[in-house]
Amino acid sequence: MSDKRIKGFSRLSKEAKIEWLVGNYFDHQEKAFETLKTYWNSDTKLQKLHDEFIENTISNFYTPYGVAPNFMVDGKMFTLPMAIEESSVVAAASKSASFWLERGGFKTTIVSTVKIGHVHFIYEGDHEKLQSFFEEIKERFYEDTSSITANMQARGGGILDIRLVNRTEAMDDYYQLEARFETCDSMGANFINSCLEQFSKTLTQSIAEADTFTEAEKNVQVVMCILSNYTPECLVRSEVSCPVAELEDGSGVSPEEFATKFKRAVRIAEIEPYRATTHNKGIMNGIDAVVIATGNDFRAIEAACHTYASRSGHYTSLSHCEVKDGIFRFWIEVPLALGTVGGLTTLHPLVKFSLEMLDKPSATELMSIIASSGLAQNFAALRALVTTGIQKGHMKMHLLNILNQLEATEEEKAIIVDHFKHNTVSYSAAVQKFCEVRGIEKPQVTLKKP
Ligand code: MEV
Repeated sequence: MSDKRIKGFSRLSKEAKIEWLVGNYFDHQEKAFETLKTYWNSDTKLQKLHDEFIENTISNFYTPYGVAPNFMVDGKMFTLPMAIEESSVVAAASKSASFWLERGGFKTTIVSTVKIGHVHFIYEGDHEKLQSFFEEIKERFYEDTSSITANMQARGGGILDIRLVNRTEAMDDYYQLEARFETCDSMGANFINSCLEQFSKTLTQSIAEADTFTEAEKNVQVVMCILSNYTPECLVRSEVSCPVAELEDGSGVSPEEFATKFKRAVRIAEIEPYRATTHNKGIMNGIDAVVIATGNDFRAIEAACHTYASRSGHYTSLSHCEVKDGIFRFWIEVPLALGTVGGLTTLHPLVKFSLEMLDKPSATELMSIIASSGLAQNFAALRALVTTGIQKGHMKMHLLNILNQLEATEEEKAIIVDHFKHNTVSYSAAVQKFCEVRGIEKPQVTLKKP
């Protein structure tokens, strides 16, 4: 056994990487190698494509790709692609979509589509001098980036504005060039970062060449140039509404009682961060699954949504509910910086498939669809929570995972699933029923209870 340190790992072939890995970390090397190999794609071209998405690729990590039909968003019908490993999410989205399909569907508004980036820099000098110099040379920022912005401008986007921000109250000598961008159907990260890096050059060169600054003032230190994943101005709202009387859904709870309980549950998420976190997590179940299936960056979306949920200084719900004059309204407002061109959208075959399934949406259409997916998910979770409880539906969905773990045959699964149509699923009840059906005392496989 080595001490598991290695130099030049990235330069090894895929086979050599695997050999080193299984040799150093696995007792059953053949089995470990076989596990990785099982997930290789037999289409070598496709495998190479995936290998090259990231670095040091040794296999593929599958996530189920499901679909949720019956989403009516702004009058148009969609079946949503969802890439997610958690059971119940796709079923919940589909159930909510069907429920709201009967009641007018999801209505959305694009509030704004602006993205922001910063050159963070240190300037040890007089603020007024810097401010007036910035105003003087402002046009240069646009001129010097004209080769980068030409294409984006032709598509209707580009740099919207640039301003100097004084943040010296927070950190000595800290300033920002803050720019706002319209990136049309692309997520725009490369475009924004390229513009920012040019701004930084323009700023430092212009100051270095100006006579107005002292030597100390000329020593501008650029700390970094980077877009912000916080996009409160790239905002979409999705809403569902109906008369309270139409909230009847056969759960045995009256529509009025349902509306009251539902609104209270949303209110709790608005005022209580412990609940807001779980409430928003449920929303992100719906958002992330479609974000991933459409080749977008779910980490960026997560980061933006949670910052947005904290914008008042108090972490709160991303969704809201109102019951007024006999009308139930439930809505969400989320920052979603998405792209439907560039990035993975033309490279990953399943991403292309997802976008085609969604009728090749623009970035704003995708914002509307994904916000609606989040709202649908939230509606389903709250509906279950304030009526039957979450476990009933969740465990039904989880039943198959338990049965797969027990290595139940298809025939056994059918009998057991049928049994639990009328019985409460719990982990031990599922194991017990499985043993009964198979005619054994205890399962042969070692189980890991969730
Ligand atoms: C589980 O993934 C998500 C829920 O916990 C969301 C919620 O509690 O609102 C069910």
